[in-house]
Amino acid sequence: MSIILGLESSCDETAAAIVRSDRTILAHALAGQEDHHRAFGGVVPEIAARAHVELMTPLVQTALTDAGMTLADVDAIAATAGPGLIGGVMVGLVTAKALAMAAGKPLIAVNHLEGHALSPRLVDPDLDFPYLLLLVSGGHCQLLRVRGVGQYDRLATTIDDAVGEAFDKTAKILGLGFPGGPAVEAAAAMGNAKAVPLPRPLKGANEPHFSFAGLKSAVVRAHESQQYAVNDIAASFQQAVVECLLDRLTYTLDRIDPLAALVVAGGVAANGPIRAMLAQLAETRDMRFVAPPLWLCTDNAAMIAWAGAERFAAGLTDGLDFVARPRWPLDPNAAPARGAGVKA
Ligand code: KG4
Ligand code: ZN
Repeated sequence: MSIILGLESSCDETAAAIVRSDRTILAHALAGQEDHHRAFGGVVPEIAARAHVELMTPLVQTALTDAGMTLADVDAIAATAGPGLIGGVMVGLVTAKALAMAAGKPLIAVNHLEGHALSPRLVDPDLDFPYLLLLVSGGHCQLLRVRGVGQYDRLATTIDDAVGEAFDKTAKILGLGFPGGPAVEAAAAMGNAKAVPLPRPLKGANEPHFSFAGLKSAVVRAHESQQYAVNDIAASFQQAVVECLLDRLTYTLDRIDPLAALVVAGGVAANGPIRAMLAQLAETRDMRFVAPPLWLCTDNAAMIAWAGAERFAAGLTDGLDFVARPRWPLDPNAAPARGAGVKA
């Protein structure tokens, strides 16, 4: 049994957590930075990095205190080492290196996306490899076959915007505030999803990939036309996203060998209608649907500590010379999708 301290700082959440390899979450501390960034309508990298510097050390202390431990009690220290906003990633990684050196513990450099990808296994002991993973966050929209720790086949990716990015931009266009996803979902709940004709980018296309940029442009035009209520645009946008995701997932499911489970992870997995669509799709395909609880879907350090625990169990640790990676694809062998290659 191992105990892992995990740090997360790749975007606008600073977090530290302590997780045991038997899936016990001994502590998880998190500080959001919404107040730092709200005035700018999005995450400002320099402000985020400074906030991580101020918040990280106290959060590590909080996590250790909550778990009733000292550094001597942990077996390894894991930190997000990319991909993400490089200033923030460096804060978490350097902190982990310093703690690892001071305490004489191994370092585990975790790919943030692997943190999301493995997070469902932290709460679901029955989720075995391989499984189909829809990873939908502010920076990513990918469909992956997860074959094991460090073993990913990217089956599809976005050729332009990530889903969360589309939600965030829609919220900004509609004046719904920041962060955008929950705001759009709340507005959509009060709107008519059939009110605004919006496109379904790549629906029916003879390729597996996703696209959301055209949808965002259509939202701009709908809003500028002044013909529609904000809630109706939000509802129609969300419905279009649901239909696009369903169509693209169906394309891939029709073409791959069956997998036992459909898993969703990443911040957008918090979206109710998207979760409902995925649950239904899984049912029609005889797959088990697995979605982590909401707090584990958005960025947090428990998923980094857990990915660390899985890597530690596989004997995977890293040297203190590990360099932070602003880009770090989970599947380095994936062929670039047209127009893409930018995000992962
Ligand atoms: O995984 P995450 O916390 O950070 C990244 O690694 O990107 O995901 C954040 C993204 C943001 O784009 C946010 O707007 C979106 O997840 N999100 C949602 C919802 N909650 C968060 N999108 C749609 N509906 C939601 N309820
Ligand atoms: Zn994330």
